Amino acid sequence: MKKILITGGAGFIGSHVVRRFTTQYPTYQIYNLDALTYAGNLENLSDIDALPNYHFVKGDITDAAFIDELFQLHDFTGVIHLAAESHVDRSISDPLSFVMTNVVGTANLLNAARKAWKDELGKPDRTRLFYHVSTDEVYGELHDPNEFFLETTKYDPRSPYSASKASSDHFVRAYHATYKLPVVISNCSNNYGPNHFPEKLIPLMIHNIIQNKPLPVYGKGENVRDWLYVEDHARAIDVIFHKGMVGETYNIGGHNEWKNLDLVLLLCKTMDEKLGREAGTSEKLITYVTDRAGHDLRYAIDATKLKNELAWEPSLQFAEGLERTVDWYLNNTAWLENVTSGTYQKYYEGMYAIR
Ligand code: NAD
Ligand code: TYD
Repeated sequence: MKKILITGGAGFIGSHVVRRFTTQYPTYQIYNLDALTYAGNLENLSDIDALPNYHFVKGDITDAAFIDELFQLHDFTGVIHLAAESHVDRSISDPLSFVMTNVVGTANLLNAARKAWKDELGKPDRTRLFYHVSTDEVYGELHDPNEFFLETTKYDPRSPYSASKASSDHFVRAYHATYKLPVVISNCSNNYGPNHFPEKLIPLMIHNIIQNKPLPVYGKGENVRDWLYVEDHARAIDVIFHKGMVGETYNIGGHNEWKNLDLVLLLCKTMDEKLGREAGTSEKLITYVTDRAGHDLRYAIDATKLKNELAWEPSLQFAEGLERTVDWYLNNTAWLENVTSGTYQKYYEGMYAIR
């Protein structure tokens, strides 16, 4: 029987991973460990939380004693680690919380797994796996339009967020080299889709267009991101978790580069059509604001290794993914209202730490 710990499962990507694993693998027991920070929202899982193979644990990965206790209580066969502080702008105003969760929290999980799995470390059969979910931002920024991030690209993080994720990746590799902990890492490009917290570009713009509020474009809007639909990322995680080689790294990307301004203009056009507004209405809301400090120019992934070795490719065209995303936000205005007002957080007060 597989007993899998998924950390950060109440967040954006984590909720899609939890849904995929609980529904595709009914024989697996899935434990979602989440501290329910501002980014964690159990409403994201309301459609699956009654499933018999789903279990929620409220807890903080920075608490080493608690994490050790959890690994003693449950004989986890796998870990899929997504819990993190994930927003670059927050990392600029509060870098140390990123060190705590992303670096110390990851080290706590690695250490608990090392102790719990001590009798099996280094054995050839793949009975345990620690899967670390990371970002392409660890590679820094690209300037040459013909260049892409490969698994071998040198690390060059430039924000406190990417530095903390790079550090966590190094700890994962160090635990593999030193203790033979069975690990796998993936580095993914920017995700978009339902349940994305409206502090990030796409959901923020959708929210502000609905509300007729200014659309803040950093600098001149020339920075480029490679966007992947979140369910395609969850499917890649599934494939890598089951078929990836221990000790390996896989880059995941959408082959879908957009300049921020072009993306915001496309969103304005799509939303005008959906909301029955005159063409050009939402575009007038675009407001150029002071650029982000150290703003990375371009991210772009070369996902050839994942395609050739594990036969994964993005399944959705961007136009379809974006339309699905916009429709989801328009059909879930209560979710949007709850997360922007903070209402959802009050339900979690007094929740038990271990279940
Ligand atoms: P998110 O911010 O939406 O969710 C993070 C989740 O982690 C939340 O549910 C939060 O409550 C939980 N969490 C935070 N601190 C915690 C702690 N100390 N203990 C326990 N739980 C805690 O993030 P996301 O966008 O879903 O990203 C998930 C993972 O994927 C992160 O590791 C991120 O670095 C990585 N990633 C994200 C993207 C992206 O575009 N969003 C791209 C590539 C990789
Ligand atoms: P974001 O969604 O924060 O993801 P990341 O910084 O991890 O790539 O931002 C995506 C891009 O959009 C990035 O180049 C910064 C830019 N951006 C804006 O122009 N305005 C905004 O209000 C936000 C949140 C981001």
